[in-house]
Parts: sequence; C-alpha cells; structure tokens
Amino acid sequence: MKTKIFGKAGISEAAEILKGGGLVAFPTETVYGLGGNGLDKEAAKKIYAAKGRPSDNPLILHVSSIEEVYPLVKALPEKAKKLMEAFWPGPLTLVLPKSDLVPKESTGGLETVALRSPENALTLDLIRACGFPIAGPSANLSGRPSPTEASHVFEDLGGRIEGILEDGAVGIGVESTIVDLSEDCPTLLRPGAITIEDLEEVLGEKIAIDPTLLGKSMAEGFIPKAPGMKYRHYAPKAEMLLFKKKEEEENDLRAGQEDIAKSILSYGGKELSDCPEQEVKKSVAKAILSYGEKELSVSPEKRIWILCGEDTAGLYQESGRFTVQILGRREEPLSMTHNLFRLLRKADEEGAELILGECYSEEGVGFALMNRLKKAAGQRILYV
Ligand code: TXA
Ligand code: MG
Repeated sequence: MKTKIFGKAGISEAAEILKGGGLVAFPTETVYGLGGNGLDKEAAKKIYAAKGRPSDNPLILHVSSIEEVYPLVKALPEKAKKLMEAFWPGPLTLVLPKSDLVPKESTGGLETVALRSPENALTLDLIRACGFPIAGPSANLSGRPSPTEASHVFEDLGGRIEGILEDGAVGIGVESTIVDLSEDCPTLLRPGAITIEDLEEVLGEKIAIDPTLLGKSMAEGFIPKAPGMKYRHYAPKAEMLLFKKKEEEENDLRAGQEDIAKSILSYGGKELSDCPEQEVKKSVAKAILSYGEKELSVSPEKRIWILCGEDTAGLYQESGRFTVQILGRREEPLSMTHNLFRLLRKADEEGAELILGECYSEEGVGFALMNRLKKAAGQRILYV
C-alpha cells in the first residue's frame, strides 16, 4: 500500500481513513503515534500487525477532551479528574478501569484502559473529526526507538499504513508519563516529562513507583505493570554501555565528569591507534565480555560513538578518534530527551557498533531520560 503524507489541510481525509478502519500515524508532543479507531477491534489487530507488536501489549486511547473520557471508563475518580485538569492536553497517560465500550483487543485483554489527551493541535482536530478515541502506540516498528519525526515513521511503517499526519519534529522526544489510577494508590508505571514531583504537587499525596523502574528486575520476580515496559525497547543495533561514577565519589561532580570522560576514552580506544584491527576487535570484545555481556565485534574506531553532554563534549573531541554526539545540556534533561531517539536512529543508520554514554542526574525529568538511556543500553552500566 502507498502511505500518504497529510498536513493540516489533509485532516478530514485522514479522518475518513480512520473511520473506514485504516491506520494513520499522528504527531504528539512526545513521539509520533500509530492511530486506528480505538473502539474497533479490527483496527487494533491491524495496529499490532503493522507494528509487529505482541498483542498483549495494550494501546493508549487518545482523546481530545476530558468529557470524551466518561463513556470509556467505569468511573472517573476525583484524582484522575484533578490530574487531567492540571496536565491535559499534555504528556500524561492515566490507567483506569475500562467500560464495555472499549474492546479488549485494544487493551491487551486487560480490564483497564490507558487514556491521554496529546498536546498537538492537528491531532486534537483529527480526534474531533473522527468522533472516536484514536488508539495509538508509538509509531515505530516494535523494538526500534520511538519516532520523533514523520520521516522516522515513514522509515519504519512506510507501505504498511495508509497515512501519516505530519507536523515536524516533536518537542519532548520521549513517551508520556503513565500513572495507574485503577487501584487506591496512584502508581507511576512509566516516567516522562510530567515528573513525580509534578504529580504529587497536584494530588497532595505520595505516589508509588513501579519497582521495576527502580532497578528491580524480572529475574527477581518483579513484573512491570505496564506490559509494554517488559519488552526490550529503544534498543539501537549497536551495543550500548553507560558509564557512571561510583556513588561515593559523586559529590565532586566536575572531577567525576572528567574521570568518566577519561574512562570512556580509554575503554573505547583501548590502544586503538597501535593495534591491528583484529586485535582491537578482540581486546574490546574481551573487555566487554569481562563485564558479563554478550559478544561484540567492534571495528573501525569511528564506529564507536560517544553520547555526551554539551559540557563534556570537548573532553572527547580532543582525542579526535570517535564519533562524538552531543545529547543536549546536562542541566536541561528535556534538551536531551528531545534528541535521544533521533540519535539512536542515526547511530543505526550510520552503522555505529558500540555506543558509550554518560549517566545523568535522575532528578525530575532526568528520571525519564535515564530510564530510556538505560533501556537502550540493556541496563548495562559500568561503574568507574
Ligand atoms: O507518549 C505516548 O504515550 C505515546 C504517544 C503516541 O501518545 N504513546 C506510547 O504508546 O508511548 P506505547 O504503546 O508505545 O506505550 C504505551 C504503554 C505501554 O508500555 C503499555 O504497556 C502501557 O502503556 N499501557 C497501555 N495500557 C495499559 C493498561 N491498561 N495498563 C497498564 N499499562 C498500559
Ligand atoms: Mg512504544
């Protein structure tokens, strides 16, 4: 099938496709979504097929107003209303007990439904033009980084969906915060641009955090409550490894950053200049294996990418040997979330084989940034 690209003028045509049971990707402030009629189980099946996604992974229903939520849920608790009023339209998804109107095919068989109103004028118009909630996971092929530009959607889903509503690059760049309100204690299931502090301020109570977000693993018997969080996500083709200063030395931050830079350089560059290529491959692979990870084969040194803060870029560039990519400004985690998935896609495109990255503060939006970075790195952090 040919995938049509729509702009503002094409909203009614895009809505007709959705009404007819087809799929149209749509822009939001977080990442692009892959849209279908949220009340139509056949559309849900098509979404899973186009994405190559396991169908036990529930979709988010996108609405254009709080009023549209009532028919979709059993009841709308006061806490949910408060959060919707404070943050919608915006990067916050709420999980609530679903009504019978929502097919189980959209919720991966669950009795709850995830709801969000995205902050994008074109998409809000599209939802209104449809007259039903638009079901939408992120518009990437399963296992690839979420798309932050329409071209990323085309790369992954071109030829597999009827259309893409285009609206440039997104702002935030990582998916919405998900809060489960289906039980008494509000629980954070996925961190995003709306922070724990933002949520607690509005609710006036502590919110719980899904233990898997705090490093508890499935191997230890912890299963993430958002089914999607258990899959390997956001993973570039390259092996990726994060470097972190040992906890006790983190008080001297600047010195810490320099140490980390030094360690990344010596690790990535292990005698690169004076070793024959095969030796380099072997010695790098050996080092990585010694951290208990799977086998790697790293060849030309430019295939080694360093993902770093603007402030430390100079430390890496000095060596002149690696592909140094600036993620953003350390003090502004949103500047980093904005670029992360785009850079991971670029790494794939340009054949990066090893990505070495820094760790950042987990305060505020930093929690969402580090959650995605760690996922991309398969949770591998090297303490230096
Ligand atoms: O920012 C976003 O949320 C983007 C844009 C397009 O809105 N969407 C997005 O969708 O990230 P997706 O499908 O990639 O992620 C949805 C997450 C998955 O981890 C899924 O398991 C979780 O939401 N989820 C959906 N319904 C749920 C439910 N009823 N209970 C628990 N988790 C749920
Ligand atoms: Mg996704």
